[in-house]
Amino acid sequence: MSKILLVYATKSGSTQEIAEFIASSLRQSGFDVTLDNVQSPNHHPSNYDAIILGTPIYKGMWMPELLGYATLHEKVLTQKPLFLWMSCIRVLEVGGYEHVLSRWS
Ligand SMILES: Cc1cc2nc3c(=O)[nH]c(=O)nc-3n(C[C@H](O)[C@H](O)[C@H](O)COP(=O)(O)O)c2cc1C
Repeated sequence: MSKILLVYATKSGSTQEIAEFIASSLRQSGFDVTLDNVQSPNHHPSNYDAIILGTPIYKGMWMPELLGYATLHEKVLTQKPLFLWMSCIRVLEVGGYEHVLSRWS
C-alpha cells in the first residue's frame, strides 16, 4: 500500500478541513495517508512514497510555514511524486472579481 504524507498549513481551519477530506477520500481508495500540520510536523517526508502539500493563500502568497517546509525538504520532495493544492478565495486577488465573473457568471 502506498504511503502518502499530506502536509498542510492553516490559519483559521478551512485548509485543515479540506486536508482531512482529501485524506479520507484517499484512504477510501486504499492509500495509507498520514496528515501533518506544518506548524508542528511530526513526520519526515523521506519515509513516504508520495507527498501532498496544501496551503491557504493570504495576500497572494502561500503561508510562510509551508514555503519554509518546501524549501527545507526540497531535495526529498523533488525525488518523489509531489502534489500541491491551495485553498483560497480568488476573488480577493488583483483582477479576481473580473476573473470570477468571466468564468462563473
Ligand atoms: C486576511 C485574508 C487575506 C486573504 N488573502 C487572499 C488572497 O490574497 N487570495 C485568495 O485567493 N484568498 C485569500 N484569502 C482567502 C483564504 O485563502 C481562504 O479563506 C482560505 O480558505 C483560508 O484558509 P484557512 O482557514 O486554512 O486559514 C484571504 C483571507 C483572509 C482572511
